[in-house]
Amino acid sequence: MTKHPLLNEVQDGSRLKNVSEEFGTPLYTYFGEQIRNNLDRIDTALRANFKKYQIYYAVKSNNNPNLLAFMHQHLPTLGADCSSPGELLAAERASIPFTNCVYTGNYESMDDLQCAVDSGCEINLDDETSFTRLKNICIPEYISFRLNPGVGKGRFAEIVTGGREAKFGIPVENIAAVYKSALTDGVKTFGLQCHSGSAILDQKHFRENTQLILKTARHIEDIINHRLLKISIGSGFGIPYVDDEDPLNFNDVFDLVAEVFKEFYGQHQHDWPILCIEPGRALVGDAAILLAQVTGIKDSYKTFIGLDAGMETLMRPALYGAVHRIYKVGAVTEKQNITVDVTGRICENTDRLAVDIPFPDVVEGDLIAIMDTGAYGYSMAHQFNTRPRPAEVLVDKGAPRLIRSRETIEDIFRNCDN
Ligand SMILES: Cc1ncc(COP(=O)(O)O)c(C=O)c1O
Repeated sequence: MTKHPLLNEVQDGSRLKNVSEEFGTPLYTYFGEQIRNNLDRIDTALRANFKKYQIYYAVKSNNNPNLLAFMHQHLPTLGADCSSPGELLAAERASIPFTNCVYTGNYESMDDLQCAVDSGCEINLDDETSFTRLKNICIPEYISFRLNPGVGKGRFAEIVTGGREAKFGIPVENIAAVYKSALTDGVKTFGLQCHSGSAILDQKHFRENTQLILKTARHIEDIINHRLLKISIGSGFGIPYVDDEDPLNFNDVFDLVAEVFKEFYGQHQHDWPILCIEPGRALVGDAAILLAQVTGIKDSYKTFIGLDAGMETLMRPALYGAVHRIYKVGAVTEKQNITVDVTGRICENTDRLAVDIPFPDVVEGDLIAIMDTGAYGYSMAHQFNTRPRPAEVLVDKGAPRLIRSRETIEDIFRNCDN
């Protein structure tokens, strides 16, 4: 069990109180130092084990161009994994060159594919039929395809993206034939990608997953008689969401992955393909606290603490039953003498941020911290019940910086003024 890196911020509370007073609530509050630490831990561990590697930040986890730019300034080699034209635009706004971006869509429309081709980024296709559509636009020199290895793993069933129930990727049995036909059509060089699930803390998984991918890579290479230039093992890099979990040790993880590369490609790194990874959560997840205020407390059949943030602000608990640690700011060590559900103001009974958790006494107006909300927090926020989306602020050296203004109700209706 490791102490949460931002627990002192919650216990001390002064910076959180200041930003909530200046920018209001609900407020996604990002801590620059934690983002830098996450980038360094992953990049250093990769560098120690691989001569050739590329990190593509998964923009879907958090698309704020100011955060992307912040990350890219700290680690200029950082690329972006984009899954929509909008995510390509976020990368462009952050000055990440498209030559360092990959487009991984699924069921891509012709417009999606055209946008990816026009940007000049690499394209990672989800299916053979995606390639049939792409051929109407062009035949790229380089392409990669997404493998469904027939199995997957993830913290919840909903984020398992490999296996027979998954909508992603090309079944392992069919994938070599797809490469063969792309070669016949004129593609010159290839990569292979596989992302079979998210939020995994079991380090052994990364070895087993890489073995599955490289076994398929070898088969593809035998069939097309070409070496693959890049192997992306996707992501899956989890973070602790509860107290009794430990963070991944990335030195161990990439040591395990490198062992598998050695098994398949030999001792000389010169002969290895470029290892690519697509982390989102592991870079930004634990670096944000969602700040909210208590708006109402109700003793019903259960005790409910109502906040000005709900499922429209943070979707993960309602979507997957995800658990986030929730604290009263300044009261981490205070006695937790009530059992509560934490809810928002949304007219859905799934509107819960936590269910049956021990909590200290609170009163209306108290400031509440919802932890580990940097990934799939704002990027999944929505406007149900005509609630404007929150603001985002970056706390780093110097004054806190507003990196996305709070939406207004007028913003919600902007496109109705025809
Ligand atoms: C293709 C692909 N790569 C990378 C990721 C990032 O996953 P995580 O944020 O868990 O690192 C995802 C998440 O859904 C994904 O679909």
